[in-house]
Amino acid sequence: MERSQVAIIGSGLIGRSWAMVFAAGGFKVKLYDIAQQQLMSALEGIRQQMKEMEKLGVLKGALSAEQQLALISVCTDLKAAVEGATFIQECTPENLELKKKIFSQLDLIVDDNVILSSSTSCLLPSKLFTGLKHVKQCIVSHPVNPPYFVPLVEIVPHPETDPSTTERTYALMKKIGQSPVKLNREIEGFVLNRLQYAVISEAWRLVGEGVISPTDLDLVMSDGLGMRYAFIGPLETMHLNAEGVSNYCERYAEGMKLVLNTFGPVPEFSGETAQKVNQALSEKIPVVPKVLDARRKWRDECLTGLAKLKTQMKSD
Ligand code: NAI
Repeated sequence: MERSQVAIIGSGLIGRSWAMVFAAGGFKVKLYDIAQQQLMSALEGIRQQMKEMEKLGVLKGALSAEQQLALISVCTDLKAAVEGATFIQECTPENLELKKKIFSQLDLIVDDNVILSSSTSCLLPSKLFTGLKHVKQCIVSHPVNPPYFVPLVEIVPHPETDPSTTERTYALMKKIGQSPVKLNREIEGFVLNRLQYAVISEAWRLVGEGVISPTDLDLVMSDGLGMRYAFIGPLETMHLNAEGVSNYCERYAEGMKLVLNTFGPVPEFSGETAQKVNQALSEKIPVVPKVLDARRKWRDECLTGLAKLKTQMKSD
């Protein structure tokens, strides 16, 4: 059977994760990087992770780890990497000039059918793709780290992106088991980071004003709001917390506006509050690579468990 093929440009944290997601979906993956050493470490990292997940019974897709690994090959020649690919996911460092250079190189070698997609966290499509010959085929597909266990992908078009590019990207993300959302137009921070920054800034203000300690602030999310947000969003929360959204607004709009009007200005994220937050977090999790890595591993294990639970609850 002829397998569809994708190319991943950049084999760092996000590139290797995309490679795993596509291989789990049965796609042939060509992983490209300028650093051979980086590619070798990516392959080894992917092998280890897949084997471990297989052992734990959380490997995605219908294929075994060996079968998925056999779908991934590496390459340091850009033209060879993208040859035969129907979708190219760029995952190089978050640097506008570097990404623009890569997309202009790709622009010269791709055909009129392939989709050129970027993993950028915050560079706007109009900054990345304007002026490219294949701009209609360009799009941002912003993943959440680690994409293997956090399936959301924000799909953000350039003003000149062809609607069929958006639709094809959306369908592809669904096919490989991710959870795509479409933005109708580009906006700074896309949606995920706008929501995240709204939460961070109010957390910062509350700690800065001495209303609550940094440790307790984090608990409000992890043992409070976050419990439901893993399953339903803020709008559905409104719907369920009253007799529907309209009723929620009737009941709570005045109260919400009263509270929202007391929100302070955008924080500087420096000075005394930064010291206070840093001290509290460093006491809990010392800033030592080994400790940070262990905590990240624990976080990923939690996310794996949650992903498993979500799948199980959907099929119940
Ligand atoms: P990283 O630094 O781990 O990996 C970047 C890779 O690109 C390295 O392997 C490097 O050798 C390679 N590279 C550098 N120049 C290159 C070139 N000219 N051609 C090909 N490869 C090149 O970076 P990471 O964290 O994987 O981020 C990649 C992209 O994903 C960034 O745009 C980032 O904003 C985005 N992203 C990152 C998230 C995260 O949590 N790390 C989450 C969502 C998106």
